Amino acid sequence: MIKTLLIPHKIVTVNSKDEILTNHAVEIEDRFIRSIINLKDIDLENYDGVVVRYPNYTLIPGFVQTHIHLCQTLFRGLADDLELLDWLQQRIFPYENAHSKESLRISAKLGINELQTGGTTTILDMGTIRHHEQVMEELISSGMRAISGKCMVDENDLMPQFKESIKDSINSSVELANEFHNSAEGRVKYGFAPRFVLSCSEKLLKETVELTNQFEGSVYHTHSSENKNEVAEVRRKFSKENIDYFNSIGVLGNNTVLAHCIHTNENEINLLKHTGTKISHCPSSNLKLGSGIANIPEYIKRGISVSLGADGAPCNNNLSAFTEMRLAALIQKPLYGPTAMDAKTVFKLATIEGAKALHLEEEIGSVEAGKKADLVLIDLETPTNSLDPADDLTYSNIVYTASKENVKAVMIDGEWVVKNGESLVYDPNELVSEGRTELHNLIDRV
Ligand code: GUN
Ligand code: FE
Repeated sequence: MIKTLLIPHKIVTVNSKDEILTNHAVEIEDRFIRSIINLKDIDLENYDGVVVRYPNYTLIPGFVQTHIHLCQTLFRGLADDLELLDWLQQRIFPYENAHSKESLRISAKLGINELQTGGTTTILDMGTIRHHEQVMEELISSGMRAISGKCMVDENDLMPQFKESIKDSINSSVELANEFHNSAEGRVKYGFAPRFVLSCSEKLLKETVELTNQFEGSVYHTHSSENKNEVAEVRRKFSKENIDYFNSIGVLGNNTVLAHCIHTNENEINLLKHTGTKISHCPSSNLKLGSGIANIPEYIKRGISVSLGADGAPCNNNLSAFTEMRLAALIQKPLYGPTAMDAKTVFKLATIEGAKALHLEEEIGSVEAGKKADLVLIDLETPTNSLDPADDLTYSNIVYTASKENVKAVMIDGEWVVKNGESLVYDPNELVSEGRTELHNLIDRV
């Protein structure tokens, strides 16, 4: 295997010392970061591999987003200005229910293209109820790193046609897990995904805990405590708060990732902490659906795992880690003061904290020898960025100023998926034309 030496202007390592390095190179070999080398210690003339210089670019770890719905990308703009339960009932469930294999496949392609070109290299994804093999296959062929699973829905008062029997939901999930868990040499894993309390029986929620534990490295991925009407309905049905209910049936734990967690009380925060449950914070989605503002500074202070996700295209309407980082910082400041959620803290939520939430911190989330080569090169040497070279300004540039337009190259598992700001995986014209056709057909089916 040929070795490659990348020599950027700066390396934001996210290692245990949070080092930002200049005059260093990253050596890549066979999917891995072999070493980080001080340029003083290497004879570049006689290096036995390829040397690539990026004198203007900053190298960072690929972003990890812990709550995405690739199956919804095709519905962008078709469910604006609604609150959660109306959004699901009037738009998202009917659209998901109308997915064919072809429309689901292009929805996944559109989402993966947007994520990769924006510097996101790993996702935790929740699918829809049918044809989920399309998403798994596309994750494998696109080079994306992912944990993904079909959503499990066996009760649905919002849209009774959009559900399966518990037996079908569990059997098809297990079949997909058997086929796809740890595929593409471990790059793609299966994550079980009961949708949320209001669309799952207690039996399904409980049995899925057992299933998740049977697949080492899998994740239990669901939504919780997102919307006031949702938690009121949970309270009416079970006389408990959402997270309290999850605790009573054994859902909380180290392998569980809960998206949102906005409406939580003191008891629930303690439960999250003591069980090691992970929170995926989705600031754009929480604002756009009018759901509320999660108390992220408090969760972090308590030592609860927090990472970031764009959620789905119809509640955002982008899938950019930059947008989520910027909003994760800004929305807390009117409530908790301008020092809350500084740029460095937020950058770590989008990288190493995401990796930890998925138990992938030995593999990804930082630029360190021995980790997988999931790397992003961004151009911060532009007239619209801060020109002060201080290290703290690097985090500021990335979190407060940059956007996906600054992303120039992306590598996942040692393979380039983006170069010169353009996808090497997808042709944007083909995505648009195929997407239009499939969306048109899907709308006809609704
Ligand atoms: N709760 C249940 N399903 C969904 C979904 O698709 N998106 C969001 N944001 N919340 C949900
Ligand atoms: Fe979601």
